Amino acid sequence: MSRTRDNLVIHDGLWSLSCRMLLRTVRKAFSALTTSFERRVTARPFSDSRGDKGWWTWLSRAPAHRVSRVRVELAGWPRFSRPFRVLFLSDLHVGSHTRDVERLTRITTAAAELQPDLMCLGGDYINGLLFGGGRVPPETTAAILGRVKPPLGSFAILGDHDEIYGGASIAHALRDAGLTVLLDEAARITFEGNEITILGVTPDRARSPELIRDARMGLPRIVLAHDPAAFALLPSDAADLMLCGHTHGGQIQLPLLGPLVNMSDAPLAWTYGHVVKGYCHLYVTSGLGTSLIPLRLGIPPEIVLIEVHGVIRYQKSD
Ligand SMILES: [Fe+2]
Repeated sequence: MSRTRDNLVIHDGLWSLSCRMLLRTVRKAFSALTTSFERRVTARPFSDSRGDKGWWTWLSRAPAHRVSRVRVELAGWPRFSRPFRVLFLSDLHVGSHTRDVERLTRITTAAAELQPDLMCLGGDYINGLLFGGGRVPPETTAAILGRVKPPLGSFAILGDHDEIYGGASIAHALRDAGLTVLLDEAARITFEGNEITILGVTPDRARSPELIRDARMGLPRIVLAHDPAAFALLPSDAADLMLCGHTHGGQIQLPLLGPLVNMSDAPLAWTYGHVVKGYCHLYVTSGLGTSLIPLRLGIPPEIVLIEVHGVIRYQKSD
């Protein structure tokens, strides 16, 4: 490579690094501003047990949700006699859409009919929209979620909007409804005689490498993290399954352009869907609700059913 070309490559690298740093700074400033407004909104009582939107009903109708079935092959996991079925719901933001309590009831009924072995919840139960009512108490949401009773249990983490509202009270409501809440903690389940670890990280610890590193390695592991930026922390040689939300799939996707922002330090390529890095698999759901504005475009809400298959892991020969 010539010196001129070297200089061009360095120049392009610096330019793209500067753009990324600028975008990150703008996003963090915007996020700090909206968080400050949301704190004022969520400081008021949440007492709407129906999730009505009043004057905003016409603007806040949810698009139809879809059921996304995702086949994941994890090298080194046990070869089960049938797929291990993990139901994954995230970013409910109950009350962000018109008659959302009724909608969540329909969604959880449909989800239970998929007969999952396990339910995982990726956080953001609260509607923190700055306008338009729909202030659904977390106890109402938790009670509906508690009606789904998969045989291996239901495991939940919190999202950034839950922390703004008050993470402790949301965790309390979920536990009261019979769900296990993992706040930088691990739990064990057994499927067909095989132990599986479920690790849940809190939004503010999503970048905490020691938590992910220190959890017992070697066992099949499902990692629940609200923000997919945490995927960068997984070692690529560990056959982990990470489930994330937070991005809402971009919430607004334009034809040909896809998502423009994902409100995360994760690259745009991790905004939605199935991502594979070495032996690690990530699924980022578009979630069910909305934040900032009650509008979705080009990326519908979804119920996710992950079907996990264990496959033989071949050792690399020297
Ligand atoms: Fe969210």
